This record gives sequence, C-alpha cells and structure tokens, in this order.
Amino acid sequence: PWAAALMDGCFLRLLDYLALLPLPSSTQSTPTTFTMKVLAILYEGGEAARQEPRLLGTVQNKLGLESYLKSLGHELVDADTFVYLLHSKEGADSDFQKHIVDAEVLITTPFHPGYLTRELVEKAKNLKLCITAGVGSDHIDLNAAVDHRIQVLEVSGSNVVSVAEHVVMSILLLVRNYNPAHEMIERGDWQVSEIARNAFDLEGKVVGTIGAGRIGYRVLQRLKPFDCKELLYYDYASLPPAAAEAVNARRVEDLKDFVSQCDVVTVNCPLHEGTRGLVNAELLKHFKKGAWLVNTARGAICDKDAVAEALKSGQLNGYSGDVWNVQPAPKDHVWRTVKNPLGGGNGMVPHYSGTTLDAQKRYADGARKILQNYIEGKEQDAQNIIIGLGKYETTAYGQR
Ligand code: NAI
Repeated sequence: PWAAALMDGCFLRLLDYLALLPLPSSTQSTPTTFTMKVLAILYEGGEAARQEPRLLGTVQNKLGLESYLKSLGHELVDADTFVYLLHSKEGADSDFQKHIVDAEVLITTPFHPGYLTRELVEKAKNLKLCITAGVGSDHIDLNAAVDHRIQVLEVSGSNVVSVAEHVVMSILLLVRNYNPAHEMIERGDWQVSEIARNAFDLEGKVVGTIGAGRIGYRVLQRLKPFDCKELLYYDYASLPPAAAEAVNARRVEDLKDFVSQCDVVTVNCPLHEGTRGLVNAELLKHFKKGAWLVNTARGAICDKDAVAEALKSGQLNGYSGDVWNVQPAPKDHVWRTVKNPLGGGNGMVPHYSGTTLDAQKRYADGARKILQNYIEGKEQDAQNIIIGLGKYETTAYGQR
C-alpha cells in the first residue's frame, strides 16, 4: 500500500511503527518489546524541502524524527517498521483517517493540521498522546481529548517571537499602506498620491491586543519604541503589574469598550469555545471606523464574511494575518482578495508566521523531546501540557 500510495501521487510518507521499543516505565517495569504507532501529519514541502533540510515541518524532513529514531538504534527499513509521513488528511479516504484508528501518538503542526474531531477521537481507540509541533492545539477537539483521557501537549513558546515579529510587520504594512505601494511599483506605475492618501504613522495610534500571553505580550514589548498613543490589552488573565508597567499597557475589561478605543487591534488568543467567531459583525460595529485588524492567532476567531464586509465597506481599513478558518485556504477564499474601498488593506499570507526556519528548529526539537519523554516514561515539561490525563492543565484555552 505504501508504494501504491506513492504511485497514486498521494503524499504518504510518514506514519511510524516503532517496533521493539521498551514500554514506558510507568506502564511496564521490565523492558519488553512492543509496537507503537506514531502518526505524523506534516505539510508537503516539495522541491523547497528537498533543497532546504531546515524545513523540518515537512513530510520530506520529518521533524528530524528519523535521525532521533535512528539514534535509538532503530533502523527504519520498511513500511511495517518505519515512520510514515502522511500529508493527505481530508475526507474518509485520507491517510489520516485510515491510520488514526490504531495510532498511539499523533503529531501534527498547526500549519497543516490534522483536524481531530470528536468523531475521530472516538474511532482512535489506541490514541494516548497528541503532540502539536508548534503552538495552538485547537485542531484537536480538546473536550473530547479530556473525555477520552488523551493527553495533548504543545511546544509552548517555540515560535512566539516569530509570530510577534510578524504581527508588528503586519501592523506596519497596513498602517503605512505598503502592499498597494509595492504592487504599484511592480506594475511600472508611479503615483505617490494614490498611496499617500491612505498611509499613516504608527506613532500616536492606539494599539490593543486581544490576549496578552506569550505572543501578545511580546507584541506589546516590540511596539513600545514606536511611541504609540496607548497600548491596551483585553484578557481575562491580567498581566502581573510589573509586566504591564514595563510596556506601559492598560487593561480594558469590556471587549466592545476595548475595540472602540483602538486604531489597531491584534488578535493573540487561542481558538476555543469562547473565542470562535469573537470578532463578528456585531463587534466590528464597535470598532473605530477605519481601524486595522491583524489576526495571526486563528482564522476562525474572526468571522470570515463579517471581516470581508467590514473591509469592503471601509469600516476596517485593513485586515492582515496568516491564519484561515480552513487550511489550506480554498482558492476562492474571500480573504485572499478582498480590499478596502481604496483598493488596499489586504496583508494576508499563508500560515507561516510561526514557521520560520528558526522556529522550525525549536518546535521540531520540542516535539521530539515530548515524544522522547513519553517513550522513556519521563515527566513532561509542565508548560507544554494543554490537556493532562482527563483535565485541562492550562488556563489559556478558556475560562472553566
Ligand atoms: P499563551 O497561552 O501564552 O497566551 C494566550 C493568552 O490568551 C492567555 O493570556 C489567555 O488568557 C488569553 N485568552 C484566552 N482566551 C481569551 C479570550 N477569550 N479573550 C482574551 N484573551 C484570552 O499563547 P501564545 O503562545 O501567546 O499563543 C496564542 C495563540 O497564537 C496560539 O494559541 C495560537 O492559536 C496562535 N499562534 C499562531 C501562530 C502562527 O504561526 N500564526 C504560531 C503560534 C501561535
């Protein structure tokens, strides 16, 4: 089936049967033999991944897991004892759905997520651990994971600087009307007034983050030298006073009140029941007219059509980010092309802010460490645990 799938043009590559590894010490005291199936969903890296081995999050470079497994002394030789990297993930016939039924560990990146719904959790009778190679585990039905005592871990902090830098870049390119200016140059045109009529300074503006965790706080830190009029945050967890003071950020407790004060809103909270569709038509009415919105958190936090309408009408002057409600985004997704009334204001890119080469090294190392701890029965780093055995271990995925 392995060879046939490849010939079919299906990107079947990784799914691991780790044969002959000792059982984790917590479940078996004397080493014995067992087979553990590790299923990894990674993105197809094509020629770029063949040329660039640091593209670790791809099916080609396998998060560096292959060398880890070899370092354990396991020669991975054929379909029965090898790791298969799976790319195909949608629909009943996808490799993901076929292989999840007996996998013990699922590894996936948020950039090409295998969506583990409650229905799939119920079919995955052997599943014990989900590892997110990156940050953001909303592709897993976390409540179903709690109910089925499946642990969910992510590599906390691994790409938070990468995203914070992207947020600052996105804010600047919207406020300064950069994309239409560059497109004009490529077209061979030169009409400064067409661009300058909608270009502003970030200095003197009010910028607010929804979510002031690792990324949101780093955004505030990076914005401080821009001399914004004010930096605001909205989060049910307040920053420690010293941290808030260090960036001179003020907390606003009511979301409508918060957005009504911001020239720029940046979204930096996880996607969960409390944030799905949070930025919707009703909330957008409370934004300042002509505000800019940046969302690198998760696409589904913003209502797709409401955002598109707000941009078209000029209620928003710009929308930028790298996350989409479905990934890969369909070719006709409205966010690809929607513009403000002056023909600009769109800074959308594919989901890559947290997958710079620097970040890939960190989340690949982190994912391997989590797998290694699991295999060796060692304690996991507490900050990485989203769902422990039967309960949420983090307070970041909603107030319960
Ligand atoms: P974090 O856990 O350090 O911080 C999240 C913050 O959001 C917490 O302070 C939490 O209290 C707050 N929050 C949760 N629900 C909220 C709500 N309803 N309203 C306001 N605040 C709320 O997480 P971190 O590392 O800052 O990452 C945040 C999210 O960014 C991730 O969950 C992920 O979805 C996204 N992300 C995107 C990446 C990309 O490549 N575009 C890469 C990494 C993360």
